[in-house]
Amino acid sequence: MGKVALITGITGQDGAYLSEYLIKKGYTVHGIKRRASLFNTDRIDHLYQDPQLNDRNLILHYGDMTDSMNITRIISDIQPDEIYNLAAQSHVKVSFDTPEYTANVDGLGTLRILEAVRLLKLTEKTRIYQASTSELYGLVQEIPQKETTPFYPRSPYAVAKMYAYWITVNYREAYNMFACNGILFNHESPLRGETFVTRKVTRALSRIALGIQGEVYMGNLSSKRDWGHAKDYIKAMYLILQQDQPDDYVIATGVTTTIRDFISRAFKEIGVIVEFRGEGANETGEIIGIDKDLFVDKIGEAYLAAIQSRIGEKVVKVDPKYFRPTEVELLIGDATKARTKLSWEPQYTLDTLIKDMMTSDVKAMKKEAYLRDGGYRIMNYFE
Ligand code: NAP
Ligand code: GDD
Repeated sequence: MGKVALITGITGQDGAYLSEYLIKKGYTVHGIKRRASLFNTDRIDHLYQDPQLNDRNLILHYGDMTDSMNITRIISDIQPDEIYNLAAQSHVKVSFDTPEYTANVDGLGTLRILEAVRLLKLTEKTRIYQASTSELYGLVQEIPQKETTPFYPRSPYAVAKMYAYWITVNYREAYNMFACNGILFNHESPLRGETFVTRKVTRALSRIALGIQGEVYMGNLSSKRDWGHAKDYIKAMYLILQQDQPDDYVIATGVTTTIRDFISRAFKEIGVIVEFRGEGANETGEIIGIDKDLFVDKIGEAYLAAIQSRIGEKVVKVDPKYFRPTEVELLIGDATKARTKLSWEPQYTLDTLIKDMMTSDVKAMKKEAYLRDGGYRIMNYFE
């Protein structure tokens, strides 16, 4: 009999990759999804349709991290071997607008999971992974950040996640539970939510290249992030729960990059050369050249003349509405412990991550361009 896992946040980026990974390992995966007025299972729908996978190995339950009884009932029914608590209001900027809700879901939601396992007397059986975050380091006290670096959270999101981190440690120590924190640095993918910076950029740049968007407005271009690929990071979640002893681990690449540089590299991936000038709210990114062969290869001949006519135009601008009341300026992680104890090694680099995201978004936006043009660009969409 394969193991049984429960994933909260299964409809999110990480939930989608993790559920596929576990099903392929022979797990029966249960997921908690929220009731929404529109379908919200896009990221996992393919798992039902894949003939290689048995659709009985993925079972969804309606639920919400704010509803203790619902969570307790689901855990009682499923009796999971492993719980991956990925559900969260995960947007840092939005947490300043909805601080109480964020605390309830991200902070108390974790307590509800731990307490349900304890009350149901599953502490011997059920292992718990808590989705902790590099946002805990906030105003960083050490460079690079590792498991022993002091926390200094800088948003309601990070403060809520700090409660979740410590309540996980506390239940481990108080009740001898196998409860672990994965302190994951930013990880992205073609499935990344559209309002996080990398996906916002790869979508916007694809649309600019295809002539369906003129420019993109960004926030702080100087902050630095340690970006990995979600496909690599969900493997670390799994490994953390397979160890003999419960523990907390930093998962990171050890490379940090500014938002500005991410944009330049994503443009370069499709043959558009951009230069940034100015500072703060007045900074802009201007097209200074086109690598014709690369652009034709990645985007298509039909769009070349239009993008060439835009040389000298500013296509990246700053809108202060995207600035945060308190910013996390620099994140760079030291994952030595995970590399040593878990034998975890990321497969993707920043460049291969960008390539994966740009390829996916160019394809999706070509479809949008095709539909918008009523089929005029049909040859390009299918090429
Ligand atoms: P995501 O794409 O935003 O997914 C969040 C998931 O949580 C979605 O399935 C969402 O449901 C669900 N959710 C939100 N509020 C909920 C509620 N009240 N009750 C039940 N489910 C709820 O996030 P992600 O990038 O996959 O990240 C997964 C986890 O890792 C999160 O806890 C995040 O804070 C943490 N984390 C992420 C990163 C990163 O760089 N991605 C780094 C460190 C830690 P809907 O689909 O219905 O919205
Ligand atoms: N979202 C967004 N939109 N961010 C922007 C923009 C913009 O237009 N312009 C600049 N940024 C900057 C933000 O100010 C921040 O410094 C950086 O880009 C990254 O922002 P996000 O992609 O929104 O991610 P995050 O680092 O705040 O949070 C993500 O990573 C955390 C791990 O460190 C989320 O996935 C969190 O859930 C996760 O815990």
